[in-house]
Amino acid sequence: MALLDEIYERGEVVTPKGEVLKVHSGISREEGEFIYNLIRNDRRISRTLEVGCAYGLSSLNICAALKGRNGAKHIILDPFQNTQWQSVGISNLRREGLSWFELVEERSEFALPRLAAERESQFDFVFIDGWHTFDHTMIDCFYATRLLGIGGYLVIDDANFPSIARVIRYLENYPCYQRHGSVKIASANDISSLVALQKRTEDLRPWNWYADF
Ligand SMILES: C[S@@+](CC[C@H](N)C(=O)[O-])C[C@H]1O[C@@H](n2cnc3c(N)ncnc32)[C@H](O)[C@@H]1O
Repeated sequence: MALLDEIYERGEVVTPKGEVLKVHSGISREEGEFIYNLIRNDRRISRTLEVGCAYGLSSLNICAALKGRNGAKHIILDPFQNTQWQSVGISNLRREGLSWFELVEERSEFALPRLAAERESQFDFVFIDGWHTFDHTMIDCFYATRLLGIGGYLVIDDANFPSIARVIRYLENYPCYQRHGSVKIASANDISSLVALQKRTEDLRPWNWYADF
């Protein structure tokens, strides 16, 4: 996509008011390609959700990959899109004509439980890239597991952060999850910066389930 190429080459984005800003946050080009290909390669994916939009690098990849899909709908949770991020993420989506998204400007810890109550098992793909503490990421992933249908994907960014690596170690013990793939850090090939899990069965863990992590 020309816009993404431009953003990665220049390391800059442009606000709707025409101000040029340095990109200081967002998935790498390689991670974006991984997400794009994952969605393109599984034609069942049409209902997607992400936590954390910022300048829209992940949103652009997700929405571009959904192009042409029947019933395509991408929900973006980000409480600071129109303030801290000056609407750049959604403005980039509009510039590219990727209109099948809905921005929910709410904190994920409040929006996700509501969505899970209303739309349990109805999502095919959830991307987590919001507030990066262990407990917050765990809460996002707890609800993501409820939101995903069987066959759906949970993709988690910054898997090399100690807090997030720990969450992934716990999730990988769930019998319902199987690792689908990852993006490795170029300078440290045994460490992943992004991990994708696939929900292969219902989450049938009993009430007192625990596995060390
Ligand atoms: C690392 S950035 C996301 C980068 C983005 N995925 C990309 O590839 O361009 C983290 C984002 O999480 C958002 N965020 C922070 N706290 C949040 C919360 N409680 N709920 C949802 N999003 C949150 C921030 O506003 C920011 O946009």
